[in-house]
Amino acid sequence: MNILIIGTGYVGLVTGTCFAEMGHNVTCLDIDENKIDALQEGIIPFYEPGLKDLVKKNSHKKRLLFSCDYEESVPKADAIFVAVPTPSESDGSCDLKYFRSAVKSIAQHMSTYTVIVNKSTVPVGSTSEIHDLIKSELSTRNVLVEFDMVSNPEFLKEGSAVTDCLSPDRIIVGLSSVRARAVMEKIYLPLTVKGSTLIVMDPCSAEMTKYAANSMLATRISFMNELSRLCEKVGANIDEVKIGIGSDKRIGPYFLNAGIGYGGSCFPKDIKALQAQAKSAGIELSILKAVDQVNKTQKDHIINIIEGYFSDKGGITNKTIGIWGLAFKPETDDMREAPSIDIISKLYTLGANIKVFDPISQKNARYYLSNYPKIVWSENQYATCENADAVILVTEWSCFLTSDLSLVYKKMSGKGFFDGRNAFDKQKMKELGFDYYNIGTPSIDQQLEITTW
Ligand SMILES: NC(=O)c1ccc[n+]([C@@H]2O[C@H](COP(=O)([O-])OP(=O)(O)OC[C@H]3O[C@@H](n4cnc5c(N)ncnc54)[C@H](O)[C@@H]3O)[C@@H](O)[C@H]2O)c1
Repeated sequence: MNILIIGTGYVGLVTGTCFAEMGHNVTCLDIDENKIDALQEGIIPFYEPGLKDLVKKNSHKKRLLFSCDYEESVPKADAIFVAVPTPSESDGSCDLKYFRSAVKSIAQHMSTYTVIVNKSTVPVGSTSEIHDLIKSELSTRNVLVEFDMVSNPEFLKEGSAVTDCLSPDRIIVGLSSVRARAVMEKIYLPLTVKGSTLIVMDPCSAEMTKYAANSMLATRISFMNELSRLCEKVGANIDEVKIGIGSDKRIGPYFLNAGIGYGGSCFPKDIKALQAQAKSAGIELSILKAVDQVNKTQKDHIINIIEGYFSDKGGITNKTIGIWGLAFKPETDDMREAPSIDIISKLYTLGANIKVFDPISQKNARYYLSNYPKIVWSENQYATCENADAVILVTEWSCFLTSDLSLVYKKMSGKGFFDGRNAFDKQKMKELGFDYYNIGTPSIDQQLEITTW
């Protein structure tokens, strides 16, 4: 099939490349000419494991093209997937301006039956709103072109996006036309034939499924984070509780890690957007309100632990703190809503000297942290620790997890180690000499007290 993808960001480029890998003829279109020029040269605009090779292979086979030209690309497409940003408005609601603009450009050039598929995360009801927008654009052009709208929300995870796209847990398709269903089934046949499940529903339910999935995952994280604060007070260990509840089949082991809160381009904005839509429908989503609130205060929680540690050491001012990891999670360079930004901002305001290192996102991070000119950008994780009073593990990249911790200890001038991802062994860290703190576990002394009963 001839597929056009609008928006060559994390979702659009991965989706388009994977469709080409499945054998379709794909054009990826973007309004950003620099991005398209770079892609034509084989330069990928962001970091995603496995993507570069796949882009190269499918471009070479001429199954994957890049363009900025709606006029040329739209009439050739059997299906057009829209994957443009849907950021937050100031009140938290979803801003559809990029989406409307992309769809308008499509409608200006449609000449034959086309299926327009939405991959962006949009409020429930948007598919039908956009249907009307296209109809009105076509009537302005005074042309009669048949089309169908489909909602096909995306569930890929940055860092494993290629695998997620080629072997999805499920494919959700929201539609109301038999003709569009046949097109969608044909597009996804290379995956369904290998066992992936295509779930067909109405467009509103498909749109809601995307918000519901992200809300459920964020709820699990905030629930564990809130519980971890109680664990610290009462002597329980959140990591053991995680194993205890995660082995219950009704709960399952995923998204139960306590830490410094969720970030990224999706959870924070989607949780706000669903609350905003609920508010305008006269419903208060009190659970999601709490999820958002716990996530905000979880970043303060680690700062409180650090402030407490330095309280009898002259305070945080002028202390040197090394930050390990900046991206919102490992295996991506995405800095959107990364917890590192809030943590660094708070420490900076408290007068700490900040040294940072991230193996991949450093270039993006310089933009997001441009308000903090005194940050020292290190070349590797060890340079970050040089003369540091403390180190904070913010993103659990494997280079940090496999570091020579004795060397880290030797390079530091202090011995504070704050593990925001519960990645290291508390006893071992103590043996190495660190003053080690993590999230939601009892102190070594508390633990000893309990185990020597
Ligand atoms: N990033 C993720 O992990 C993820 C996962 C699932 C769903 N989503 C959703 O997918 C959508 C896209 O997210 P993303 O992270 O890929 O965004 P992105 O910012 O990485 O990329 C969006 C691209 O769209 C382009 N664009 C904007 N307006 C355009 C227009 N009118 N015509 C053509 N191109 C245009 C931009 O230049 C940019 O390259 C959002 O709604 C997001 O919520 C994202």
